[in-house]
Amino acid sequence: MLSTAENYHEATKYTEESLSQTAKQLDMSQQPSPFKEFVSSTRIRMAPYLPFSPTPFDQEGESLEKGDPASDLGKISRLLYFTNGITGVIQYPGAAHALRAAPSAGALYPTEIYLVCRNSEDLADGIYNYQIADHSLVLVCEGNHFSDLSAYSFNHPAVEASQFILLLTGIYQRSAWRYEQRAYRRILLDTGHVLGNITSYAAEEKLAAHPIYDFHDEAINQLLFLNDEEEVCQLLVALPPFDRAERLSLPPRRVIQPGPQDEEDAATMIALQKSGYFNEGNSQPATATAEAMEVKYPTAAVMTLEQPELVWSGIAQTIVRRRSTRKYSGDEIGANQLSLLLWHAYQPFRAALNPDAVPEVEPMHTNDWLCLPCDLETYVVVHNVTNVLAGIYHYEPGAHTLRTVRMGDFVRETWHICLGQELARDASAMIVHTADLPKAIERYGNRAYRSLHLDAGHLGERLNLAAVGVGLGVSGIGGFFDDEVNETLSLDRDYITVYITTIGQPA
Ligand SMILES: Cc1cc2nc3c(=O)[nH]c(=O)nc-3n(C[C@H](O)[C@H](O)[C@H](O)COP(=O)(O)O)c2cc1C
Repeated sequence: MLSTAENYHEATKYTEESLSQTAKQLDMSQQPSPFKEFVSSTRIRMAPYLPFSPTPFDQEGESLEKGDPASDLGKISRLLYFTNGITGVIQYPGAAHALRAAPSAGALYPTEIYLVCRNSEDLADGIYNYQIADHSLVLVCEGNHFSDLSAYSFNHPAVEASQFILLLTGIYQRSAWRYEQRAYRRILLDTGHVLGNITSYAAEEKLAAHPIYDFHDEAINQLLFLNDEEEVCQLLVALPPFDRAERLSLPPRRVIQPGPQDEEDAATMIALQKSGYFNEGNSQPATATAEAMEVKYPTAAVMTLEQPELVWSGIAQTIVRRRSTRKYSGDEIGANQLSLLLWHAYQPFRAALNPDAVPEVEPMHTNDWLCLPCDLETYVVVHNVTNVLAGIYHYEPGAHTLRTVRMGDFVRETWHICLGQELARDASAMIVHTADLPKAIERYGNRAYRSLHLDAGHLGERLNLAAVGVGLGVSGIGGFFDDEVNETLSLDRDYITVYITTIGQPA
């Protein structure tokens, strides 16, 4: 019998037939607001603490006195802004649409961020919601909730070591309004992108970002007063300071014990989310986690990519400049650029993948404490990269090598697979994250579906930032004909495509 995750994935595959059946005109009047409103007597404005002025949040005629950049509020203001703040505006006739630091499928922005803090000089202990529209915090609930968070996250040591923790939630309807049941995939990918900004930026504030995937869902949802048929917590990110993070010994991921599954409604996103809920007694530490990835194409030709210099400056400026490219020229990109993108994307996981391959790097860049997306397998489709023959390659992150899977020009195929989007036709390369779904479920239960998509979004955002950093164009692609990707990449039927990132020269 198929698991809930497999049923859901099968039911939400795009085929030419399913797309033509579900094609409909969107009723714009029904689009949910991308901003969550709270009635709260405590609203803390964070715009005065931003490192630039004027800010998009200043009221007309107002000149705000700057806040102390070294204060806790300075740190939180910057961290939240460079994670998911408003960094751009598109003007339509009669309307303006705010764009954010992290990209989002269809610009629907399902991800909300809550901050849990304690012992701060500027903020009372409590849980706050990040109000993106005016870059403020509203108090959701007062008090020190760290012992609750520890208990609900199986006593994850990064919680105990932190003063600040971010809780990332997803609001189903914001995305489902357009993408229906397939929205769940995009909500998780979007949230993974938000995580990518956190793991890339947090080091600027001397904070180590620890994503925590395993927690008691119902308890955390209740702590945030969420109706879990509408909004659910997907991920915790603990932010211990560097000096405390180094000493943490991290627990293995947990696996859910099989429970009743495959009810009538098993193919819906809410059913899938709930089928992966951890609670008091239904989980145990997973046994298989961080083993080195086996060589998948042992006899194939291997190309070792140059190890790029790990110099990353101006991450905040890069995040602010980031936009999804809308058109590529089709011109070539350099092999060294492709190498840098893959390197930066996988950097936080490298140590866990292959400790021998880790060069001496500055502690600022050694995010060894992050979890390992050991269940994702990354392919690169090369259309036009200097000195790399066109074809399909399997990327080995530990060794930073590409192994040949198929040679040839796959431009027309990938264009079609990505629903005829010209981005896929004109990109110089495409990075495709895939996974053996039954194997991942064996390790982590239905919850694996969640972490695979969060991890793919995480890698996607790190690819985005590296691309922008070296002046390339980049865009995610969440819509593709699932089974046809397998055919093109010569993947077994068990494999799923989780996410695609296109890169190229902006037109
Ligand atoms: C998960 C995900 C899937 C996306 N899929 C597509 C896509 O299929 N086609 C496309 O043109 N853009 C896609 N995008 C880019 C979004 O349209 C873009 O992020 C959004 O319009 C906001 O613009 P910005 O990224 O420039 O801030 C995707 C982005 C994400 C995060």
